[in-house]
Amino acid sequence: MGQDTTRRAPIGVFDSGVGGLTVVRALRSALPGEDIVYLGDTARVPYGSKSPRTVERYSLACQQFLLDRGVKLVMIACNTASANALPALTSASPVPVIGAVLPGASTALATTVARHVGVIGTLGTVRSNAYAHAIFARDPGVVLSSLACPLFVPLAEEGWVDDEIAELVARRYLVQLFAKDPAIDTLVLGCTHYPLLRDVIARVARSLAHHEVFVVDSARAMADSAREVLGSSLLSIDNRRTAPGRLDCFATDTSRLDELATRFLGEPITGFELVDL
Ligand code: DGL
Repeated sequence: MGQDTTRRAPIGVFDSGVGGLTVVRALRSALPGEDIVYLGDTARVPYGSKSPRTVERYSLACQQFLLDRGVKLVMIACNTASANALPALTSASPVPVIGAVLPGASTALATTVARHVGVIGTLGTVRSNAYAHAIFARDPGVVLSSLACPLFVPLAEEGWVDDEIAELVARRYLVQLFAKDPAIDTLVLGCTHYPLLRDVIARVARSLAHHEVFVVDSARAMADSAREVLGSSLLSIDNRRTAPGRLDCFATDTSRLDELATRFLGEPITGFELVDL
């Protein structure tokens, strides 16, 4: 591919399901002119409760699907896949690969004043210790506490994101985190689904901590990181162009797709193409 063809190539984003559309949403606001190819592995979701080996195998298949479509950058929207499969994905890809963990960890380090950070995610993300590795490699003095919050995923999918049930679940989880470390001043939302619950999580965290808790949305951090990577490798298209980029969506199963996808993207979606990996 020539430099110009490469610039016009799409960005590839994959996730275990439709939650990764939170990353597409952030990406479209940061880089509106870029074309995006999205793959949701909806036939095999969730990844969060599966073993690292299985997550790695599924993730490699997702990435290959995107590479076969000529993407110039791969974004692993799924935190569980990022936490368990980044090394394998990076070594299998001829184009840059951005996971969710490093951007989220770096933003947390740039944000925390107390140097007490909390991370919440799926069981697979928390068990991998990937956020701990990323944070301690950059600042060994940070105090890090993490907690798996699996019920946040179905809550986000049901759209129960800011009612009394969401509040109760958030309190039940976060009380454990703040009991471990009441000095947490920065909380990383280490899962595709959690940005939908951002308001309730922020409110409950603040009330438990009795001080301001900054909430880091890894979807937004990933979009910033994509802008940097494309800019530094001269691969961005001209984002001043007026036409918005295309969004082509693929999924491995179609059940509940349109309803869920619209919820995570924040706008109606034109349709997914069903594919087999
Ligand atoms: N996409 C997953 C993540 O961000 C959440 C859903 C799942 O368990 O597959 O970790």
